This record gives sequence, structure tokens and C-alpha cells, in this order.
Amino acid sequence: MRRTLIKHVLVSDAIGEPVKVAGWVRTRRDSKGGFSFVELNDGSSFSGLQVIVPGELENYESEVLNVTIGSAVAIEGQLVESPGKGQRVEVHATKVTVFGLADPDDYPLQKKRISFEKLRDIAHLRPRTNTFGAVARVRNALAYATHKFYQERDFLYVHAPMITSSDAEGAGEMFRVTTLDPAAPPRLDGAVDYAQDFFGKPTFLTVSGQLSAETYASAMDRVYTFGPTFRAENSNTRRHLAEFWMIEPEVAFADLSDNADLAEEYIRYMFQFVLEQCPEDLAFFDKWVQEGLLDRLNALATSEFRRITYGEAIQALEQADTSFEFPVHWGADLQSEHERYLTEVVFAQPVIVVDYPKDIKAFYMRRNDDGKTVAAMDVLLPGVGEIVGGSQREERHDVLLESIREKGLPEEEYWWYLDLRRFGTVPHAGFGLGFGRMVQFTTGMQNIRDVIPFPRTPNSADF
Ligand code: 4AD
Ligand code: MG
Repeated sequence: MRRTLIKHVLVSDAIGEPVKVAGWVRTRRDSKGGFSFVELNDGSSFSGLQVIVPGELENYESEVLNVTIGSAVAIEGQLVESPGKGQRVEVHATKVTVFGLADPDDYPLQKKRISFEKLRDIAHLRPRTNTFGAVARVRNALAYATHKFYQERDFLYVHAPMITSSDAEGAGEMFRVTTLDPAAPPRLDGAVDYAQDFFGKPTFLTVSGQLSAETYASAMDRVYTFGPTFRAENSNTRRHLAEFWMIEPEVAFADLSDNADLAEEYIRYMFQFVLEQCPEDLAFFDKWVQEGLLDRLNALATSEFRRITYGEAIQALEQADTSFEFPVHWGADLQSEHERYLTEVVFAQPVIVVDYPKDIKAFYMRRNDDGKTVAAMDVLLPGVGEIVGGSQREERHDVLLESIREKGLPEEEYWWYLDLRRFGTVPHAGFGLGFGRMVQFTTGMQNIRDVIPFPRTPNSADF
């Protein structure tokens, strides 16, 4: 018999029909009448399926009564209407196959609540909890929404390389990729001789797929990447990972304002999609993780974002009657506390800040005519702060070259990037959305380590 996923069984009208399900046991209660209630979850939905197992089954005493939380079983039976509260249907089992038991003395996920922090130490088991199952489904829905959004708008999905020799952000936060023996690397004049390394030169894990996306946008008009990126920044915060997924659209013949429109539309689309696809999971987060989450997502799914310049942001922060840990002045980068103050207190809505000082932004951003700022944009959301960083790109060859030199970057590594400005250059713009932060925001989960299956952070790369 074919197996049906529990999410389909729960909404099925095939009352009286045979059904087969399989999954992991969440609870088993034995009734005095000599039968048991088993709640089964297979990850397909937040709710599990209630199964009644009659004592007459031949393996009832030998096997079913050994089944505890975490055991893996398959059940065949009949779908019936449920007299119980909180469920439409249940299954009356005619056959129970036990695949794997989970010794209650050892299996860590018993009824009692375990802190998110402790669950990180058993990241291989945490998807079986309500919270992490729900996070996984929301994360999946947001990924689906991403592809749907861009595909519906004729964007081409391109795969940026993960190993690279150029620093896309110019911030020097890259992990080195090498096959040289760390204990005895070949040397030339005292320095490590990377000419003898696998690629014949120093290589790293990419911090962003943007530069590759730009080459494809310069031929295919509108593209996006969606892949893992890596940063060796030692930030032990609740919104930083060393390995995180980023979506990077890049559009030819577009300016900063087009870019901001796209980011806004994309973020709203994701809210709408996930509200539609994951109502049960979001209701759970609203109740147990962050009160008011649903109201906020519903409001954001249709609301406009506020657009301000960096100069206006600084002004608003200087007037704030609160003291910040990091001082505020024109030229200073906005810290998380500032971003949150702007979006949570000053404007109480998502904010897009544009035109940052050139000295605090990456080399590729287009210089504004004022000579001081660049056509940068950050999208800020309450709770998480910066979710998107992007810009109009510098399409003028000589201005870009000057910027690369000014920032002290190795010019020779960017020859191909400069080439794009020599042959058929166009105004173009793009941004990167931190996928983890989006999942964080959508679920209300406090720590980004709890919205990715296996978080990589300083001193932690288990599993
Ligand atoms: O602002 P960032 O550094 O921008 C770029 O990488 C550009 N190349 C994007 C582009 O224009 N194509 O990073 C983009 C976003 C941030 O706004 C943030 O949401 C997320 O990526 N991000 C991180 N998320 C988790 N952990 C980290 N360490 C992150 N660093 C950035
Ligand atoms: Mg940024």
C-alpha cells in the first residue's frame, strides 16, 4: 500500500478508506480498555496524526507497548472521523510496523522543554521538535517563494562559484581554500608559495556571488543567485553566521530606485507567500516564540517601506533621546542598535536607507555627484536590523578603477570585473538579502543559529 504524508491525511475526506502513514512517535498513551493512542508526526505538517492501536494486534504487547517518543513506525489502518477535540480525523490501526525504538533513558527529546541553546548541541535531532520542524518548513517556503518571485519576473537563476580568488566585498573576511600542508607549506623568499597550491594562486570561499551575477546581468539582463556565502568575521552575535545563504538579484539598465522597488516587492511577496503556505507554523511562533508576530507579518505583507537618506538617518539618531553604545556622527557606520532604533522607534516600519558615505561602503558602489556618498541601500527591519545590502554599481570604468585603488585592493584580481565596464557597460544595480535573517524575522526566532540546520559560527562547526 502506498504511504500518504500526514499533512494530506489530516485534510482527507476518504473516511472509511484504508490508509498508510509512517513517522516518529510524539506520544503514546495507553487506555484502560486495552488499546493505545499514538500521535505520529512525519514532518509534513505541524500537527501530528492520532492513531488508535487496538490491543488485539498480534504485536501489541511484544512491540507496540515498547514504542515511545522518537520511535519510528509505519501504520496501516482505516481513516475515521475523530470524536476527539482538535482533530478532524484519526486512524484505527490494523497493522503497526516498528522500525526503530528510541530508548527513553537515552533519547534526549522527551516531553519537557529543552532550551534552544541546549538543542544546538543535538542539532541532528532538533528537527524532530515542534519548533525546528516549523522553522524548517518556513525556511523551505521562503526559498520556494524566492524562486517563484524571480522566475515569475523573468529573472535567470545563475550559480556563482563558491571558490574564488577575488574578495567581492573587499573587506578581507575570507576563509582560505588550500591543499597545502599547513605544517610545512612550500615557501618562496620566506612567504608561503601559493603558486604551488591547488589553483596555482591564493583562493578563498566567496563572501558574495555579486560579481559573478554582474557578469551575467551584463548579458542576460536580470539574474539572481541563491547560494551559500562565507565570512570569516569574528562576530558572535545573534544575527551573524560564518556560513549563510544569500539571494542576490542583479538587474541591467536599473538604478538605485528600481533596486529599492525590487527589494520591497520581493520582501512583501515572501511575507504573503509564507502567510498563505504556513499558517499553522506561524500560529505556533505567534503563540510560543514571539507574541504579535502574525499581526506584524500581516501588516508588513502590504505596507510600504520608508525611504530615507543616510544623512537623514544620522539626523534622526542624533535627535534620539536614548544613549547608544556606538556614537553617532556623519561618517560612522550604522550599528545594529541604530538600525533597530530607526525601524522600531523612529519610523515604526521597514526602512530603506540610501546614499551612505563612500568610505564605509564597498568599492563597487556607484559614486554620487556629491563626491562623498555612494548609491548604496540597506533595508532595515524591526528586530533584525539590516536584512538587505545593495547598491547601484559603478559602471564607469575609470571611476571604478580609482575606487579599487583608493581602497587598496589588488587591481589585477578585478581585471575581468573592470572589463565589464570596457565592453558595453550599463547602469545596473542589485542587492543581497540575508536568507537567515529573513527566516529569523518571519519566525520571530531570536538567534540566527536556530534558523539554519547546522550553524557555523566561531569555534563551532559540529555535525
Ligand atoms: O550587506 P552585504 O555584505 O552585501 C553584500 O554581500 C553584497 N555583495 C550584496 C549585493 O549587493 N549583491 O550582505 C548582504 C546581506 C546583509 O544585509 C545581511 O542580511 C546578510 O547578507 N549578511 C549576513 N547574514 C548572516 N550572517 C552574516 N555574517 C551576514 N553578513 C551579511
Ligand atoms: Mg551590508
